[in-house]
This record gives sequence, C-alpha cells and structure tokens, in this order.
Amino acid sequence: MQKLSKDQVIKIMSRYGNDPQQLIAILLDIQEASGKNCVERQWAELASDILKVPLSKIHDVLTFYAMFSEEPRGENVIEICRSTPCFFNRMTSRENENDSKPGTEHVVQWFEDAAGIKMGETTTDGKVSLFYTNCVGACDIGPVAKIGDEVYGNLTVEKVKTLVKCCRDGNKQELNSLCQN
Ligand code: FES
Repeated sequence: MQKLSKDQVIKIMSRYGNDPQQLIAILLDIQEASGKNCVERQWAELASDILKVPLSKIHDVLTFYAMFSEEPRGENVIEICRSTPCFFNRMTSRENENDSKPGTEHVVQWFEDAAGIKMGETTTDGKVSLFYTNCVGACDIGPVAKIGDEVYGNLTVEKVKTLVKCCRDGNKQELNSLCQN
C-alpha cells in the first residue's frame, strides 16, 4: 500500500467538514488509509491543527479506544484474551489430565507458531500482528481470539492455523465462517 500523504489526510478531514465532533470517524478513516493500521504522530498533529483539537485529546482518544493504535500494526490484528475465565481453562486442564481444553498459554503458542512471530510482533509481510486483550464477553467458548470485530472460540491447533492463513490470504469469507463457533 502507498504511503499516506498529507493531501489524503486533509481530504479525509474535509469529507467530515473539518468537524471536531467527527474526531473518532476521522481518526478511523486515517487509520484505515494509513496502510499501517495506526494513526501516526504526524497525522495526529495535522488533525490537531486543522480540527482545532488539542493533541493531548487526540492522544487520549487513540489510547482509550482499543481499535486505535499509535504504533504500526499488521493489516490483521489478532488479539488473544488473557482475562481470568479464559486463563482458567489452563488451570482446569492441569488439574485433570483428561481435560483437553486449552488455556491462554496454549493458544498463544499456537498463534505464535502459525504466524512465526511472538506476541506484540508483526509478520514481515505486514499481514498479521499478535496482541493480548482482555475479556470480550465470550468466556464460554474461551480462550478466544478477536480479529477485527469478530470473536473466535473453541480454538484448536488446526483452527488457529486456518485463521492465520485466512488473514494472510485476505480470505474474509472463510474468516467470517469460523467466528463464534
Ligand atoms: S475471559 Fe476471555 S472472553 Fe471472557
């Protein structure tokens, strides 16, 4: 993807009439157009100038909402839940050897192996980043992974491999068919 230009960012803001009330929508569009899945500092500063919104407020928005990032991320951000109920599965499986339910640490390992990166990293093709998240309200199918707005549970090694492959191939259709089950 081409580097985002100043003109493009100015155009995005003008589409919203340079209205500071539209800050979140504007930042989402800038992030989407960035090719880096983030709002870089220079565009936050430009938005601050044009929209007459303090840079500190823009920073607050970018750090408050989980969908934003100030650092470059992959096209697909895979977030793995590490809150207690998901994590708890690990404890269950340790207490009962016959219980094959994975815990967060197993799922993390599967994603790291499938993507060839560690948590917090992005693949060299820029397609996949791995991050942690907190409870997304789907504990009954946990440990879960969230990709965009969709939640993926009842994870297995094979399912994780498929999810990563779908992200790499841009196969949204198969990705959608695997969510919430
Ligand atoms: S603790 Fe992971 S979805 Fe609730």
